[in-house]
Amino acid sequence: MPEASPFLLACNRQAAPVTPVWFMRQAGRSLPEFRALRERYSFFELVASAELTAEVTLQPVRRLGVDAAILFSDIVTPLASIGIEVEIKSGTGPVFAEPFAGEADLSRLRPLEPDLDLAPVLDAVRILVQELEVPLIGFAGAPFTIASYFVEGGPSRDYARTKALMLGEPELWGRLLDRLADITIASLRAQVAAGAAAVQVFDSWAGTLHPDHYAAHVLPASKRVFDELADLGVPRIHFGVTTGELLGHLAAAGADVVGVDWRVPLDRAWQRIGDRAVQGNLDPAILGAPWAVVAAEADAVLGAAGGRPGHVFNLGHGVLPGTDPDVLARLVDHVHERTAAR
Ligand code: CP3
Repeated sequence: MPEASPFLLACNRQAAPVTPVWFMRQAGRSLPEFRALRERYSFFELVASAELTAEVTLQPVRRLGVDAAILFSDIVTPLASIGIEVEIKSGTGPVFAEPFAGEADLSRLRPLEPDLDLAPVLDAVRILVQELEVPLIGFAGAPFTIASYFVEGGPSRDYARTKALMLGEPELWGRLLDRLADITIASLRAQVAAGAAAVQVFDSWAGTLHPDHYAAHVLPASKRVFDELADLGVPRIHFGVTTGELLGHLAAAGADVVGVDWRVPLDRAWQRIGDRAVQGNLDPAILGAPWAVVAAEADAVLGAAGGRPGHVFNLGHGVLPGTDPDVLARLVDHVHERTAAR
């Protein structure tokens, strides 16, 4: 992997030859070659095989020309690997057989031993860094978003059980988040030791929180995650959806790059984030519009970034399953062409 990759330069807020592009959920159901594999294997069968994990990670890199790869896995993989029963339901997401119900369930969250528990994941990282010509992004879930799945038992609209625990039993909530933070830290440190060149922490659903509740009950655990990764010297990306009012707090957690969804114009988001790089923020739904619209909207994102060093182009959330991969490939070329002549 070239040291001066546009992706790593932008993460470090250095001038890059082009604005780098990658897509959250670039591997997955928008690609026919992924759907073909998913007909033969369950999600966790894919993740249990280092070779299949590497293959699925490489599929979008070959097809789209993106500037970074993201390891194929899920935010609940570490919990599954320590024996917590969880299934990935297509169209739904992670579903836990026995959700977190109280203090006694803390002991189910034993410390992660990455070399044993995540062996196929780490083998996949080692295969990928040999094969890739672009940096590999490792990832994990942030304590809040993992807790929300574990407490609710699956996806939720209102996070009622999660918020009742957080506000009603703050001491227990804090211990739950601490255990989850330990797992996230151990998983990310192991991915970097195996060769990942950057890490992204997904706090996808943190935007459901009042900023004061985020600051009091979530920020300390997330901040510890970023603090305990600082010595690794790789860019740390922090992402969530509907985080407009939380962007200042997300930045305070300490990441090098803050991901932004499409609900906040990128220039305004950048003001809230301050002296860090930004990642985003095209609305993934726009990719279904005619190409001229996609190109104009991508240009609007680039315009809001204003050519400042430190912009990683991405969608504001993951690629939607119905997205035409040819549009993704054309978008990568378009961003490169528009920004090359700067
Ligand atoms: O390409 C990539 O981005 C890497 C792979 C990746 C997956 N999940 C694969 C996946 C990553 C980075 C994730 C992280 C993840 N998982 C997040 C954070 C990112 C985000 O979208 O906010 C979250 C919230 C989850 C939980 C989860 N797992 C959801 C919401 C879903 C989708 C449910 C669905 O089917 O719509 C999953 C399942 C999942 N994770 C799929 C993939 C490719 C689809 C499952 C399938 O193939 O059946």
